[in-house]
Parts: sequence; C-alpha cells; structure tokens
Amino acid sequence: MSDAGKRAAGRAAAELVEPGMRLGFGTGSTVEHFLVALAERGIDVAGVPTSEATARRCAELGLATLRPDEVDGLDLAVDGADELTRDLALTKGGGGALLREKVVAAMAARFVVIATPGKVVERLGDTFPMPVEVVPFAAAPVRRALEAEGFLVDGRNHGGRDVETDNGNVLLDARMPGGIEDPAAVEARVEMLPGVVASGLFTDLAHEALLGDDDGTVTELRVG
Ligand code: 5RP
Repeated sequence: MSDAGKRAAGRAAAELVEPGMRLGFGTGSTVEHFLVALAERGIDVAGVPTSEATARRCAELGLATLRPDEVDGLDLAVDGADELTRDLALTKGGGGALLREKVVAAMAARFVVIATPGKVVERLGDTFPMPVEVVPFAAAPVRRALEAEGFLVDGRNHGGRDVETDNGNVLLDARMPGGIEDPAAVEARVEMLPGVVASGLFTDLAHEALLGDDDGTVTELRVG
C-alpha cells in the first residue's frame, strides 16, 4: 500500500476546494492527507465528517464541522474507497464508517473518490469483502440471507469482541468468490434486508476518482 500515492490523491482533492464550500469529509488514511492539505490552505470551509474519528481529526486541524441537519446539501464530498471499478462502483467501509459515508456522499452535488491505482478491480467483492452494517438484533438472519446468495460471511471483530460502529451497530464482511456480477442489484437487494442499515457497495454515487501514484502523478477517472 502506497502512502505517497494516497498523499498525491489527497492533495489533488484539496485543490478542488473553493472558499465557502460546504464539504463532506470522508474517513481513512487517504482522507487524512486531504484534511491536512485542506487545513494548510487555510480557507473558510466547513464540512460534515463521516465518522467520530474524522470529527476528532478536524478539531485537531482546525477544520470547522457541521451536522447534516445544518445544511441543505454539500458542494463536494471527498472520501476514500477500498475497491473501485472503472465505472466508479465502489466498495467502502473498511474503516467501518460506511453508513455515514453513504449519507454524506448522497448529500453532495459532487462526490470525488481518492485512492491509488492498485484499488481498481474488474469486479468488486472478491479480494475485499463487502461490509454490511446491521443492527445487532438482525445480525444472524442477515448473515444467513447473505450466505444464501453465495457470500462467505465473517462478523467483524477486534480481539474477540464485535466491532461496534459509530451508530451502535455491528458489521458483517461478505466476500463473493469470483466477484459480484451485478453490484447495483446486490446493493439494492442487501439494503432491503430487514435490519441492514447500509451496504458498503456504492454503485451510483461517485462522480470522479483521483488515483494517486507513487511518483506523485494523479490520474482522473470519470463516469461515462
Ligand atoms: C472507511 C472507508 C475508507 O474510505 C476506506 O476504507 C479506504 O481507506 P484508506 O484510505 O485508509 O485506504 O470506507 O469506512
């Protein structure tokens, strides 16, 4: 995994920001570079953070934060991804922040993904599992429903304890051997299961991706 590439992507995204913009602040190590670069610019912006960790980091860096109910919409959301396809379907939620990440991405007029070229895949869900955020009561039936679809499912835990999300839920990581054939259909089906609050498939949200390479160059991918 390349930190130079993540840094290049994060810094390129910070250049897209204009004074007065209302932003979405993603979560993760690539977003960390975006936040640092944005703070260095010292311009007047504010954003909705997608996790408690990002909210704390914004406070440390002096970046103003907003709640979703304080804005009608966002000009620009910037977030990382665990995997993406060339038509900008994403897997997100490696850091467990998928629900707020999806809410914030959907609020934004422009959603820019920052990543490295090694995260581009032909099919989602094989090398990196699809995270699913579930209310604890529904974890067992949702697991069985995913297994019936052919997913190999693990509950996410840390040191033997279920990981609890910022929203008080648990996470299932669902891998599809060979990859997911139709991610939009799977996203819709999984999010219809009672007790699921979000899947980590983001199939119709990203407008562009900035892919940072180790040598500092950044390549842009756009939908269409
Ligand atoms: C967190 C996410 C992150 O954006 C994703 O895991 C990528 O993280 P990183 O930039 O650290 O590789 O979805 O829930």
